Amino acid sequence: MLNQNALKQQAADAALDYVSEVAGPDVIIGVGTGSTADLFIDGLAAFKGRLRGAVASSERSAQRLAAHGIAVLDLNDVEHMPIYVDGADEINAALHMIKGGGGALTREKIVASVADRFICIADESKLVQTLGAFPLPLEVIPMATQAVARAMIALGGQPKVREGFVTDNGNIILDVAGLSIADGADFEARVNHIPGVVTCGLFALAGADVALLATQQGIRKLTASGS
Ligand code: A5P
Repeated sequence: MLNQNALKQQAADAALDYVSEVAGPDVIIGVGTGSTADLFIDGLAAFKGRLRGAVASSERSAQRLAAHGIAVLDLNDVEHMPIYVDGADEINAALHMIKGGGGALTREKIVASVADRFICIADESKLVQTLGAFPLPLEVIPMATQAVARAMIALGGQPKVREGFVTDNGNIILDVAGLSIADGADFEARVNHIPGVVTCGLFALAGADVALLATQQGIRKLTASGS
């Protein structure tokens, strides 16, 4: 019986197959944040001579990449990335995700938007029928905290400020519990329109392209196209 860490390792290793498909001296990989992304970064070290470098979605991941001797590039200097690899807090069969448990949702969404394909790596416990049991993280401009909280209550949620946490961009995180998100794209668009919301941790308007979900029986691969 594999424990959760071994399952995360399996998912991270599976993403390395995608790296070897695209690797080349000019190739830059987008890298996410979290414990599963950490394992992916450790595996990426084996490719450092065969890649130009990586763009990180957090200071934490940038430090881990640099510790492995992988060049960390500024996104402003990068036009193209074939893949972005990251974990998720929840993912559904449509490959819509809740992300931001680590508070890096804004940079994750930005870096992912520049990559051709989002490859989600997770253990199968992250696969859910309906998104929302994991509280939805929102990055919020501090002065808008209470206004955004009221707007989220109006949408049926129970918001709570993540105590003692400041994002890499100097903002706060509101974790919104009590949601059951039937239409992810519609809900994401509505939350995006609340003034003061920098980023909604729902990744549905642009979800993952591939999910590599580790199970006791091996990797279960889901694709957005269903193929
Ligand atoms: C970071 O902000 C998150 O979006 C992570 O991708 C998510 O929390 C998954 O993390 P784990 O791999 O640690 O479960």
